[in-house]
Amino acid sequence: MGERSKQWILIGTGALFGSLSTIALLKFVSRYASRLRIKSVDDGFAADDDMNVGRGRKRLKDLRDGLAGSDLLTDEVVSEQLTRNIQFFGMESQKKVTESFVVVIGLGGVGSHAASMLLRSGVGRLLLVDFDQVSLSSLNRHAVATREDVGIPKAICLQKHFSAIYPECQIEAKVQLYDASSEEEILSGNPDFVLDCIDNIDTKVALLAACVRRGLRVLSATGAGARADPTRIRIADLQESSNDPLSRAVRYRLRKDYGIDGGIPVVFSLEKPKVKLLPFKISAAEEENPLDYQIVPGFRVRIIPVLGTIPAIFGQVMASYVVTRLAGFSVQTEPVVNLDLDHYRILHQRLLEHEELIYGSAGQVLVDIEEIMYVVKELWHGRSARDQSQKGIGRKMWRSVNELMLVRWDKSKPATVSNLILLKFIEAEQHESTTIDRIRKRNLNFTLWFGREGSSAASELRRFRQRPRPLPDLRRWRRRSTAAIRAEPDLRVRVNGLEMPNPFVIGSGPPGTNYTVMKRAFDEGWGAVIAKTVSLDASKVINVTPRYARLRAGSNGTAKGQIIGWENIELISDRPLETMLNEFRQLKREYPDRILIASIMEEYNKAAWQELIERVEETGVDALEINFSCPHGMPERKMGAAVGQDCHLLEEVCGWINEKATVPVWAKMTPNITDITQPARVALKAGCEGVSAINTIMSVMGIDLNTLRPEPSVEGYSTPGGYSAKAVHPIALGKVMQIAKMMKAEFDGEQSLSAIGGVETGGDSAEFILLGANTVQVCTGVMMHGYGLVKKLRAELQDFMRKHNFSSIEDFRGVSLQYFTTHTDLVKRQQEAIRQRKAVRKGLQSDKDWTGDGFVKETESMVSN
Ligand SMILES: Cc1cc2nc3c(=O)[nH]c(=O)nc-3n(C[C@H](O)[C@H](O)[C@H](O)COP(=O)(O)O)c2cc1C
Repeated sequence: MGERSKQWILIGTGALFGSLSTIALLKFVSRYASRLRIKSVDDGFAADDDMNVGRGRKRLKDLRDGLAGSDLLTDEVVSEQLTRNIQFFGMESQKKVTESFVVVIGLGGVGSHAASMLLRSGVGRLLLVDFDQVSLSSLNRHAVATREDVGIPKAICLQKHFSAIYPECQIEAKVQLYDASSEEEILSGNPDFVLDCIDNIDTKVALLAACVRRGLRVLSATGAGARADPTRIRIADLQESSNDPLSRAVRYRLRKDYGIDGGIPVVFSLEKPKVKLLPFKISAAEEENPLDYQIVPGFRVRIIPVLGTIPAIFGQVMASYVVTRLAGFSVQTEPVVNLDLDHYRILHQRLLEHEELIYGSAGQVLVDIEEIMYVVKELWHGRSARDQSQKGIGRKMWRSVNELMLVRWDKSKPATVSNLILLKFIEAEQHESTTIDRIRKRNLNFTLWFGREGSSAASELRRFRQRPRPLPDLRRWRRRSTAAIRAEPDLRVRVNGLEMPNPFVIGSGPPGTNYTVMKRAFDEGWGAVIAKTVSLDASKVINVTPRYARLRAGSNGTAKGQIIGWENIELISDRPLETMLNEFRQLKREYPDRILIASIMEEYNKAAWQELIERVEETGVDALEINFSCPHGMPERKMGAAVGQDCHLLEEVCGWINEKATVPVWAKMTPNITDITQPARVALKAGCEGVSAINTIMSVMGIDLNTLRPEPSVEGYSTPGGYSAKAVHPIALGKVMQIAKMMKAEFDGEQSLSAIGGVETGGDSAEFILLGANTVQVCTGVMMHGYGLVKKLRAELQDFMRKHNFSSIEDFRGVSLQYFTTHTDLVKRQQEAIRQRKAVRKGLQSDKDWTGDGFVKETESMVSN
């Protein structure tokens, strides 16, 4: 075709297009004008008794009824307005959107944006529900409200603006609170989707439970306030939402009250809240009563500072999710894998070491750390290939790597990207002891990956590598050889997501009394510090002196013997809470990367516990240890051991705590109970991330044989106190062993155990770790030997590790637990051993051979039955 004819065709097409659009525009203008007339009638809504269906809107509805559902797309203006969506989804899919009915409950920052984008996407029918009114301060995040709208109901405000954007949408506005009495009215219209944009826990939980019960598709928004990073907003199952106090509370309540364990998609942010709730105080002198400000009883009234962009993005994310689902358009959301570089390093290191062990060298490991990231994150979503279920992800993700490793899928091929599978230790062992053909026969889903062409794996990896995400210290890591890794035993631990340079933790007590001594502990190199226990009202804590008494070895009470036992009748911190909180804040400012744990205790009162948690968390502490175990003084006020010794109370209080806390929670156990595994089990089941054991043992240090008065003697009288130091170490080992066995048998390996009791040497701590402890706390040891003790502990633990060729704490954690068994089993084992010894005629053969010399040796070689 000649140049000239091409030009004519272009001009002709342009003219045709121009006239068509002019016709469409004219039609649009005339329809718009008629709608403006309708709208002006419609504006009379506020005077209507029934705000939901005003007279004006009814007329508009009549007009729309002629063009309902899919027919709408035959209308030129509608199809022109939705043309980009139609081009995206295709006509058939857009029809599905246009025919659908969505209920949006909660029309604030999140809900208004979600609803507005659903409207713009052509959703045919919207039910908008909110009891609240537009306020001036909500304009920073609202989708459409203007200053003129301040004071009118949010639902009505949206309806008003929406009918100007897409008048064909059937919009019903309900100025109503969602609750049990309105459930039927709001949810009964068979909606295709329900959007939960409510920010109140009770209402949210009730709505989600009702949707699950009714089999309705629901998408829920969690906390958008106090955050600033849009890149960390995700959609995933409620189980996976992390770092969000609202979703944590919702998750807990849904499980507890309705037995619902996930299965609900939520929009959430991986970002920790950046700023705190505003207090109720107007001035320092005036304490406000929060109840005075509640519009609706039970509704949250503390104000969350909100950067308007974040709820807006939450709303847009929700609308995207819903519209694509309604259109039947498949979108693969990025898996939520909360692992960081260190996790991938651990898995890489594990792979290298495993290869050395199995194949004699790591030479066939042809993946670098970036490829490990790809395999672990993109391919296996940070979970075992055999168990891709969502448990143990999100906030608890860190735990899962504890028992995961990469192994070759096909042993005859090198460890490359397309030949690595992520499995739990035990699964890896099974995998390596069977053949690929046998695994394939079982037709497990994950085997499909290995049937794929290598090129497909390679191209996916290429895409992964091209993602714009810098990995700052990869080069340094690459330079480290396996030999270098092995040279220095690595004392670092990662517990409940908390990174510590070593497992040595200052136990709650005098060594964590104030800023000065805690700073000292960080400077000396302790892995973490647990502060002295605090409560809301320190004025109720009144100490006495003397409050310590000591037991000395080999000296019959003289002052010269080595201290082996320590009794105290010291209470929790008697310093004002605000002072302690300021010091926590200062420490976190000065040592942002070090782990500071607050130890807390309160009376049997939910509001008090939750207030304490909120105030303590606001200082930036990394975790909470709950003192359920102080044996003296506090139980008189139903605190400490009084709760730890009563499993019903404990369960209830742990429930309050876990509903509120957003950082890991350890429950500190008392040994003053018949079976310590019972409260430990209750605390873990109630959602605590870990347990600590033991607190002090109830004791009487002694009686002064001259005065006949017990010690420590306060004005001639005493009270039983808490026993600690070396003498309690064997008892602590026994309790820790029992808890560790219970945790191993009944939990999934994700919970942590912090062992305490009589630690003064690296060997003492190794014993605890061999029983399964993740960290080891020291209290009296520091009081006696000073903060520098940590250097000795570190060196001695490393010596122990070198001796056994352990390169990390995980290498030997829990290793000795397997050697505990029942007495019956001991008898069986001994009989077998004796049978074998008899066969080689070792040891005493009968009572006749007993000499009485070398008593222990002879007993050990005797046969009793
Ligand atoms: C003087 C003293 C005060 C203590 N105060 C607390 C406390 O406030 N909160 C707490 O949870 N444990 C407290 N403890 C208990 C210790 O943290 C620890 O559980 C116990 O002493 C056993 O460890 P140890 O032998 O290393 O001291 C205290 C112990 C001592 C000796």
